[in-house]
Amino acid sequence: MAFRLIATTKTSKTEGGHTPPNNTLVKKLYIKTYGCQMNVYDSERMAEVLSPLGFVVTDTPADADMVILNTCHIRERAAEKVYSEIGRLNKIREKKIENGGARSILAVTGCVAQAEGEQMLSRAPHLDMVFGPQTYHRLPQMIAEAARKGGQVLDTEFPVESKFDLLDVPRTLDGASAFLTVQEGCDKFCTYCVVPYTRGAESSRPVNSIMAEANELATAGAKEITLVGQNVNAYHGIGADGEVHGLASLIKAVADIDTVKRVRYITSYPAEVDDDLIAAHRDIEKLMPYLHLPIQSGSDKILKAMNRRHNAAQYRALAEKIMATRPDMALSSDFIVGFPGETERDFEDTCDIVRDVGFVQSYSFVFSPRPGTPAAMMEEQIDERVKSERLARLQKLLNENTLRFNEQSIGKTMEVLFDRRGKKPGQLVGRSPYMQAVVVEANDELMNQIASVKITNGYDNSLLGELTANKNNERFCA
Ligand code: SAH
Ligand code: SF4
Ligand code: F3S
Repeated sequence: MAFRLIATTKTSKTEGGHTPPNNTLVKKLYIKTYGCQMNVYDSERMAEVLSPLGFVVTDTPADADMVILNTCHIRERAAEKVYSEIGRLNKIREKKIENGGARSILAVTGCVAQAEGEQMLSRAPHLDMVFGPQTYHRLPQMIAEAARKGGQVLDTEFPVESKFDLLDVPRTLDGASAFLTVQEGCDKFCTYCVVPYTRGAESSRPVNSIMAEANELATAGAKEITLVGQNVNAYHGIGADGEVHGLASLIKAVADIDTVKRVRYITSYPAEVDDDLIAAHRDIEKLMPYLHLPIQSGSDKILKAMNRRHNAAQYRALAEKIMATRPDMALSSDFIVGFPGETERDFEDTCDIVRDVGFVQSYSFVFSPRPGTPAAMMEEQIDERVKSERLARLQKLLNENTLRFNEQSIGKTMEVLFDRRGKKPGQLVGRSPYMQAVVVEANDELMNQIASVKITNGYDNSLLGELTANKNNERFCA
């Protein structure tokens, strides 16, 4: 059997079964997503897998027939939130039943589901289903099984088959920007990180399968495609020619799709950045001049203890090489402060590299000891107060960098992809090549379009701009 059914005394009245789409009742699906871009991608795919069963996505859990919580295990706070959220969603379900509604299916997936599995079913007995990120192609069978037998369904295997080969549902798209998972899992084993355990070993999808999906996304209206992987630049997929292709070659193939105007990739591991990838930033115009390349710390001692396989000098040299490829290139990073053994001097090394490299946007976190990871067991854990105080200092520095970059954008003309309405009527918000939020006054025709914008103001978290006066922009003017 593909998955295990854990019998409980409770009987489930859930509906299920794979009925042909033309005579299916419309059912509502609510998915809440935590964590990284890969989880966002997985959530979209789950909705697509369930669509032939008659499920349509709703944005309120109250009227849903199925509720899926797609979870993240990366830091303690993210993982702990899951149980309170399950409790909240269960209360909403009980209320629905009290009001005469059908009992909805409550399911948890993602990295907490993968890490905790059966334990999660006993800690949250009102859950119907717990499944990992590698098995959601089996969702229709899981639903049928739950309906047939009652009880809780558990499926946290790392199956031999690849979900990508079995997800034979077409891609759909809401908007003009899409994530496309090309590589999954991680063999780097940074000592603080749960990803190698929750996502398994590194594996790359074949080029053909990715390109088929990229073309589907383009047909569905994607103007921007972000190639996603836990170590996306470790990508090494088999091409139709039988050769192994790296990320640069894949980027080129996606950029060759005429209607795709922007290509991005996330997240990269510094030691895996090769010359082909650097050259891609020089040669492929559609590849955005922006690279998220997490360094984590500026201290060699800490980087070694983290098992990052690069030291600060190597990172600096790499950053310089990348920045030299295009005059408009910019870098962003992730940081962990308060890693075990981090002294004030080590922390200062991190601040120094921030000042020198000048990351234009960053995510920073206090070290969170995760069960089963080597760093959680290390001596010299840092006091929470010290961690928070260092985080505040680092964030001040990082925010200064971002503000400086945003202010330097004033007067520049940028191509912006518009994807949402602004706070004020008549405003639309889009993203610059550097993921900055850009607000302009324009009509709704501009939604999901790329237009040229002159930046007039730069703030902490956004830019203000005006559509440039040109023929193309005339139709978007408010
Ligand atoms: N694969 C990516 C990162 C995935 S996790 C990479 O290697 O860069 C996203 C970020 O979460 C990491 O870059 C790191 O900064 C942070 N992170 C991971 N584990 C953490 C932990 N135990 N405590 C605090 N932050 C952590
Ligand atoms: Fe985690 Fe390190 Fe792998 Fe990134 S490279 S996913 S931080 S183990
Ligand atoms: Fe979180 Fe899993 Fe992504 S732990 S960051 S959802 S790979």
